[in-house]
Amino acid sequence: MNIELAPSILSANFAQLAADAQQAIDGGGTVLHLDVMDGHFVPNLTIGPPVVRSLRKKLNVPFDCHLMIENPDLFIPEFAEAGANWISVHQEACVHLDRSLHLIASHGCKPGVVLNPATPVETLTEVLDLVHHVLVMSVNPGFGGQKFIPNALNKIAALARMRAERKLDFRIEVDGGVDLETITDIVKAGAELLVAGNAVFGHGDIRSNASKLLEAARAATLTRA
Ligand code: DX5
Ligand code: ZN
Repeated sequence: MNIELAPSILSANFAQLAADAQQAIDGGGTVLHLDVMDGHFVPNLTIGPPVVRSLRKKLNVPFDCHLMIENPDLFIPEFAEAGANWISVHQEACVHLDRSLHLIASHGCKPGVVLNPATPVETLTEVLDLVHHVLVMSVNPGFGGQKFIPNALNKIAALARMRAERKLDFRIEVDGGVDLETITDIVKAGAELLVAGNAVFGHGDIRSNASKLLEAARAATLTRA
């Protein structure tokens, strides 16, 4: 299992995004998680393709664009063109999920699908062979710094079982409330892509926050049953 830390810039200082993100990368972040919100699918607004394009010129890790927007098909081409490497869409936002995932792949990006806390993993049965990653939301999306919802652990474990049973190779990502207290259980449940916003950028030294999280995550793999 390849554990990776994906710092979420949602809690970074937006006046110095690239510098903050670089510190998180220096601390061991290997994927940058970018939260895109439209004020409709979630009650918040964040960034669009111009910010992705600007950061792309400064940073050298894969960009993981998490689209919390309605009608994502309308924007997938522009995010791909702006420099996204992975693009994930919410199951709940996609009437034609199969089409959206193929659209992402057709623009040269890795397709991912996201589940809100109330959405069962079984709703993905028919698309698991199409995705590069499944993102399990462990908070209701829209804001950083929320408390981890423990049922996400059951969903991560269920996805890991489905993956093994069907001999698939999608990666399991978790997003929301990932911190030094929750990360051990998250990794033990089977997640390997760990998104963290507040725990990396919210306080103290960004680089050391990132490296401590990664260290705790790696330690958890050694004790996993
Ligand atoms: C929430 C976003 C997350 C958020 C996580 O809707 O999708 O990526 O940044 O933030 P923390 O790690 O602070 O819970
Ligand atoms: Zn996110």
